[in-house]
Amino acid sequence: MTQVIHQARQLRALGAGAGPVCVVMTMGALHRGHAALIEQARGQAGAGQVIVTDFVNPTQFGAGEDYARYPRTLEQDVVLATAAGADVVYAPDVADVYGFADPSALNSLITIDPGPIGSILEGAARPGHFAGVLTVVAKLLHLTAADIAIFGEKDYQQLSLITAMVNDLHFPVEVIGAPTVREDDGLAMSSRNRYLDPAQRAAAAVIPAALRAVQDSAGLGEHAALEAGRAVLDSQPDVELDYLTITAHDLGPAPASGAARVLIAARIGSTRLIDNMPVVLGA
Ligand code: PAJ
Repeated sequence: MTQVIHQARQLRALGAGAGPVCVVMTMGALHRGHAALIEQARGQAGAGQVIVTDFVNPTQFGAGEDYARYPRTLEQDVVLATAAGADVVYAPDVADVYGFADPSALNSLITIDPGPIGSILEGAARPGHFAGVLTVVAKLLHLTAADIAIFGEKDYQQLSLITAMVNDLHFPVEVIGAPTVREDDGLAMSSRNRYLDPAQRAAAAVIPAALRAVQDSAGLGEHAALEAGRAVLDSQPDVELDYLTITAHDLGPAPASGAARVLIAARIGSTRLIDNMPVVLGA
């Protein structure tokens, strides 16, 4: 039976299992994408422990973002996490993670600086976002004493930054990236998809379609591939593009040819969605 705990001191009291501790960090509102990560964690942990953290982290939301309205569905989350193989769900409150109940005190914290990659793409659109993400990920890695942590490629820049943090700061953790789980029409699963009304949800399918168009034209080079992606997006005026870009694997400038990544952010109404796929650029 999955144990649901709310306090870090209860994490410390968990007995050592006969295998590694594997953590899947989430902000709750769990869906099949999260379930795939938890299933993978179960496979990695074996007789060890699978810990799922379920915490809407205030420091990664900017002013005017959806912190207050972010869906909170702990009861259903526990059912899903249990079915996927979690041993423990850690669902703390803000004070348990940050030591302050007063949100204004969050500004006086010691934080992780994400470096230059933290201020491009999502970091440009959401100043301070990745400092908030890396700070809470560092805290949760320490609180759970994880040996292995699994993150989704869905949030590619986040995965890259967490991998870099763990390497650069010598955290004794193995970071594993997991493939993006998609709906039948290709839309990447996201807790934010539930903000979309039916018409917006239908329109959102243009996001993965644009990425596929970029993939399909990548042999013609970066410029032609991005043109093909933008043409697909132009067919759907309800989807407002924030960025569509091709980068190297490590989010540096795209190579002239070879393996690269295409990343997109777009707004539908007040909902902002992100996605990405691998591409192979032609010579
Ligand atoms: P959240 O958006 O809840 O995502 C939790 C984890 O699930 C992340 O590693 C994310 O990449 C992964 N994920 C989300 N949608 C996915 C999908 N469709 N397929 C596969 N994996 C998917 O990312 C966060 O929370 C937070 O920033 C967090 C890391 C928990 C720090 O607060």
